Amino acid sequence: MPDRTAYIRSVGRFVPETRLTNQDLEKMVETSDEWILSRTGIRERRILDPGLGNSYMAVRAARECLERAGVGAEEVDAIIVGTVTPDMFFPSTACLVQKGLGATRAWGFDLSAGCSGFVFSLTTGAQMIEAGRYQKVLVIGSDVMSSIIDYQDRNTCVLFGDGAGAVLLEPCPEPGHGILDFIQHVSGAGGEFLHMKAGGSLRPASHETIQNRWHYAYQEGRQVFKFAVTEMANVSVQILERNGLKGEDIALFIPHQANLRIIDAAASRMGIDMSRVVINIDRYANTTAGTIPLCLYDVTVEDRRLKKGDYVVMAAFGAGFTWGSILLRWWE
Ligand code: UT7
Repeated sequence: MPDRTAYIRSVGRFVPETRLTNQDLEKMVETSDEWILSRTGIRERRILDPGLGNSYMAVRAARECLERAGVGAEEVDAIIVGTVTPDMFFPSTACLVQKGLGATRAWGFDLSAGCSGFVFSLTTGAQMIEAGRYQKVLVIGSDVMSSIIDYQDRNTCVLFGDGAGAVLLEPCPEPGHGILDFIQHVSGAGGEFLHMKAGGSLRPASHETIQNRWHYAYQEGRQVFKFAVTEMANVSVQILERNGLKGEDIALFIPHQANLRIIDAAASRMGIDMSRVVINIDRYANTTAGTIPLCLYDVTVEDRRLKKGDYVVMAAFGAGFTWGSILLRWWE
């Protein structure tokens, strides 16, 4: 455990108003509410209005987060945005958020790790605090998945939604609390199963790439499921074991929300019953880097389910493949 740890001082979120329900999707592709709900746990998802980009959501989530802490934007040292759907390639979403907030002293960058984007960003921000150089780091998970989803492809369009969550990290005033440990992995061999084929330097946008619908997310769901169900559970169990903890010691498990069956498998391997697992997939679907901070908002702002000293485990799995877990002890 590091001498100096980072803790989550406050949380903010933004979810668009517009709802896309399973019933709406039944009219768009050959699917059914029954299939979507039983295979994934999703009932509806939120969709950002056309003409708005990722930074619109990220700024609003960050603003609420700072307001809750009573911290001015000019006090922020750094901004990390976990995302795969930036407003544009460059400048980074972090730069747009810095401008939108008026965070005059902050520097920042985007971090691309698919659905592990928030977990990787949180540990990166925590290490910047642990190193002693920074006092206030904003970490945001924000994705506009509707901008890269093919609403003619039933394999993917039922799964994703839009949303953003933000947390403010500061040095933890009390030893033994805050972000205590993390485990992270990538395996590029998994890239073929979940990716966006065109729009990057390998295949810049052309008539051909658009005709082939290569600017949309492509997923071989069954393949991704096989890895996700095993690896998210492994990494969640490992972080417990190496810290001498058992499932019963954990107040809340906050997993990435890709599929209720994947979450179920991880929780049962950890020995955590579902009453201590935070779920929002039914309301928001898979918001990629947004899932975990949106869940955190529910259990800290909507309901106050965490108290000082509670252990929390977060875990995610996503494109790359990328996966990881975090152990933290709540301090407030
Ligand atoms: O967050 C990033 C990481 N992503 C994940 O973790 C996602 C992991 N994968 C999954 O969650 C699941 O694989 C899915 C939810 C994507 C799919 O569930 P599944 O139980 O693995 O279904 P499947 O892909 O094996 O498809 C079963 C059947 C197929 O029909 P046949 O071949 O059995 O006749 C599909 O064509 O379901 C069909 N199907 C659908 N039917 C109705 C696929 N999508 C749909 C749909 N509605 N939307």
